[in-house]
Amino acid sequence: MQSNRTVTDMNRAVYIETYGCQMNVGDSEVVLSILQKAGYHRTEKMEEADVILVNTCSIRDNAEQRVLGRLEVFRHGKKGRGTVVGVLGCMAERLKEKLLENKAVDLVAGPDAYRDLPRLIDAVSVDGKQINTLLSHEETYADILPVRMDSDGVTAFISIMRGCNNVCSYCIVPYVRGAERSRDPRSILNEARCLIEAGYREISLLGQNVDSYRWVNPEDATDTVSFAQLLERVALLDESVRIRFATSHPKDMKDEVLFTMARHANICKHIHLPVQSGSDAQLALMNRKYTREGYLERVAKIREILPGCAITTDVIVGFCDESEEDFRQTVSLMEEVSYDGAFMFQYSERPGTKASRTMKDNVPPEVKTARLNEIIALQNRHSLKNNEAYVGRTVEVLIEGTSKRSKDQLFGRTDTNKTCVFPAAGHRPGETVRVKVLSCTSATLISEITE
Ligand code: SAH
Ligand code: SF4
Ligand code: F3S
Repeated sequence: MQSNRTVTDMNRAVYIETYGCQMNVGDSEVVLSILQKAGYHRTEKMEEADVILVNTCSIRDNAEQRVLGRLEVFRHGKKGRGTVVGVLGCMAERLKEKLLENKAVDLVAGPDAYRDLPRLIDAVSVDGKQINTLLSHEETYADILPVRMDSDGVTAFISIMRGCNNVCSYCIVPYVRGAERSRDPRSILNEARCLIEAGYREISLLGQNVDSYRWVNPEDATDTVSFAQLLERVALLDESVRIRFATSHPKDMKDEVLFTMARHANICKHIHLPVQSGSDAQLALMNRKYTREGYLERVAKIREILPGCAITTDVIVGFCDESEEDFRQTVSLMEEVSYDGAFMFQYSERPGTKASRTMKDNVPPEVKTARLNEIIALQNRHSLKNNEAYVGRTVEVLIEGTSKRSKDQLFGRTDTNKTCVFPAAGHRPGETVRVKVLSCTSATLISEITE
């Protein structure tokens, strides 16, 4: 017997590490809430933990390699102490039983199996390794109020939906997160109210494709709520609390959402609109279901309805068959839009996706790297140019915390998601202040408080 713990043994310590997107951070908060109810408390020291959990990401191979490296550390950490090590999240769902072959791993639980965690953990000491990777069509953890983790007490996010029904050919998310489900708006509004009462000043609504949020009342099918309606209801809760959202999908983003943003000053003027590629041939192979022209039309609409709205994006280089000409199309699209920011990636083939089954990962690694470096340099120039347009202006900033570099400096963001740093001048996180922008880098607006 490795452990003599029993179900009645209360107040066990759980340590959790989270990788991947904000949805995973939200899920870890749900996991902590479920475990707290079962008598656990959180520890930030791995050595003190009775249960070590790692919430994982499968989006690219390097995300998985990082976690495999951490499992080695956990294996040494638990030697002989009966500590239970569990793998949660997207890698758990993708690799299933294969993960149990890893000596470090005692349990594997997929993204829809977290309610089962207390039972799974208890079962490890009795029956050995445990696994639950069932995906659900209904689970949204709507009734679970997440335990806020590593929070600044100022900004928080709410998962409004789970899963994804798109099948972008490169992407593992639909396989590991299952079908798209929209969460009951009443539980979303309730969570938002709790956050506001607790003093939070900014709420981000999260989903893989928020534009396809659609809730149908199970008791009355004529009672439906769209994303634009949900956004408006959350914005109306407290007009002094900022609302953000992500991610928008170019094929689904409706003008109604833009008009809703225009009507409410507290909905932040920033849209994350991943383009992936500027080449129609690549977009078709990626199964993104829009063209370059269609995408640029969406950008034009944003600029028409919301002048000054920041636009950020995601780009993949080196996807299957990407020619030099295709890549030039991506560069020219980036030139045309001049994004405020971009997350840029080299294509990483994910087993089981349409691309891995039917296409060849045939762009040489050195070409992928060169293309990535080229667009990173380009984006840095655009970020700098867009930031320079702020120099001399006075903007409103929600203070989020103390700058890492100096405790006399605070940082916060504009509603267009630009990070500002400025001398504290007696102000504190959670306050909204007006700052004058004095100078900038490609990442930061250097400013001072004007009132
Ligand atoms: N739901 C969002 C993004 C999800 S994943 C959307 O539809 O845009 C975040 C980003 O990771 C994607 O936008 C894409 O740029 C990148 N990504 C996804 N799969 C990838 C892969 N196999 N290789 C490289 N980058 C990938
Ligand atoms: Fe992946 Fe496409 Fe869904 Fe985004 S929309 S999560 S890229 S399948
Ligand atoms: Fe998020 Fe990574 Fe899963 S990006 S949905 S944690 S594969």
